[in-house]
Amino acid sequence: MVKNGANSEQIIGNTLIELDSVDSTNNYLSKLANRTIVENGTVILAHYQTEGKGQRGNSWESEKGSNLTFSIYLDSSFLKLSQNFLLSMMVCNSVHELIAKYTNKAFIKWPNDVLIYNKKTCGILIENSIQKAHLSQSIIGIGLNLTQKQFDINSKATSLQSHVNRSLENNKVLNKLLAILDKNYKTLSQGNQLAIKNYYYQHLLGYKTELNYEWTSTNECFVGEILELEDTGLLKMRVNKEEIKMIEMKEIRLV
Ligand code: BTN
Repeated sequence: MVKNGANSEQIIGNTLIELDSVDSTNNYLSKLANRTIVENGTVILAHYQTEGKGQRGNSWESEKGSNLTFSIYLDSSFLKLSQNFLLSMMVCNSVHELIAKYTNKAFIKWPNDVLIYNKKTCGILIENSIQKAHLSQSIIGIGLNLTQKQFDINSKATSLQSHVNRSLENNKVLNKLLAILDKNYKTLSQGNQLAIKNYYYQHLLGYKTELNYEWTSTNECFVGEILELEDTGLLKMRVNKEEIKMIEMKEIRLV
């Protein structure tokens, strides 16, 4: 375990546990929190995950040592359950802010992917514990592709290194990202939700712009324009230039 004495003001990453290999950093943190008190902002970093978890029950594959795979334990009790998407926005914004230091071709894809051009560079999996109508703690899992060169042909993935001329060092990139996350977590927990929303909209692919989507249930294509996002993550979209629909995360995919 590493205690980051250099900057004790920093909540996120102040305690960092580095593991060579684990099933999933999200699972590790969840089990740890079940048997002991975990300090807010604790980070579990693994060089390899044997059962990395992705969104919608998918797995998350990541080449050993090439990428950042880590989870953060966060107190999210300042958010109502109905505001849970603000946490996703905060994390997406932070990853985007990091990538934007290296390339101006980074975009946020609703709900919580970060792309370079049209390829996925980072996936985020947030698992929340809830108490009545509020969140209590959240485990924020981040898989950021850093130097991996080869990806599954169907995965439409890329890594940050492919878009940067100088060599990236995993530790330095991690520390930068933790510092950005810390700043944005404080912005959100201090109540400045507007700053978080504005950044997200500013970098969101398809916001007030028409793009081609398809319905996941029928594979039917349509033209969609993102108009607004509710704090729950529900999307308000203009469909085929006329009808306005409220859309849930699994209902559509960008073509
Ligand atoms: C996605 O499907 O886009 C989300 C991927 C999230 C992957 C990260 S890697 C670190 C953390 N531990 C996991 O098991 N998953 C998340």
